[in-house]
Amino acid sequence: MAVAEAPGKVIISGEHFVVHGATALAASINRSVRVEASHSAKPEVVSNLRDGESLLPAKKLLESLYRERKVAPNVKVVITSEIPDGAGLGSSAATMVALTAAVSLLEGWYRDMPGLIKAAGVGEKLVHVNPSGIDVTVSAMGGVILFRVGQPPQPVVLPRPVRLLVAYSGRKRDTGRLIAKVSSMKDAFPALFSALCDSATLASQMSLDQLLKGDAAALGKLMTYNHAVLGRAGASNARLDGLVDLCIASGCLGAKLTGAGGGGSVIGVPPENGAPVVEKLKKKGYNAFITEIPCGGVRAWIASS
Ligand code: PMV
Repeated sequence: MAVAEAPGKVIISGEHFVVHGATALAASINRSVRVEASHSAKPEVVSNLRDGESLLPAKKLLESLYRERKVAPNVKVVITSEIPDGAGLGSSAATMVALTAAVSLLEGWYRDMPGLIKAAGVGEKLVHVNPSGIDVTVSAMGGVILFRVGQPPQPVVLPRPVRLLVAYSGRKRDTGRLIAKVSSMKDAFPALFSALCDSATLASQMSLDQLLKGDAAALGKLMTYNHAVLGRAGASNARLDGLVDLCIASGCLGAKLTGAGGGGSVIGVPPENGAPVVEKLKKKGYNAFITEIPCGGVRAWIASS
């Protein structure tokens, strides 16, 4: 059988505005989705996220991969995700990337990185309707990436690893609805929205500069600033604002929602010793963890079943 593992992601700066042409900064994280693909008499997709948002699109993606090659999809796919579904941490993108990689390896269909991203993006579109493509790109390539629609993704080499706190609000977010909500501001105030896109690009560049310098305090301040702008644009809510405040009160140097918002997760810059912050958040009932960036991208290999 063929096995592939693809990581989830966090968006450090530029979500939503990236859909409208701004530059975003994103990184893969230390949580992933594993897909095992093996030949079988009839097509079957099994997932530990039984009613997850990506299950049906995964089935459709599988069909389309085989339809493209005019081959019957006689394959069993087992999906095991350690990324909470609907948490804004890229679980659906990681599923699509891992599934595409595993099936392609099983069938001997060669795909280079852009080809893999394009094929997996077909499935991601079924989940999020009009995604920018940032999630599948980061999951496939891994590492830290500057991303702008229509341009080749720019991988960034960090001189040293950086730790980020990730905390799931416990509420699923609806990316399609949130994109439409934030986009409605563009319709109402096009010039203002265009200025916000320019400022998001600048914030992404500045966040990258701080990552490269290793200036945790400045990176944290930029995160809190980004959260305020995203809130004004309609992506936050009381629960996410409260979680950002809690991260900061618990010792983070700054925090923001990550991904679509309206639910999903928050990221923060932890202090030197992040463990007490994670403990405090866990005591309040949040699923929190520390990820070091950079983490790797998709990996695929043949295993004996
Ligand atoms: O679906 P999420 O929560 O990972 O958010 C993706 C980021 C957005 O900018 C809101 C949408 C996109 O496709 O870029």
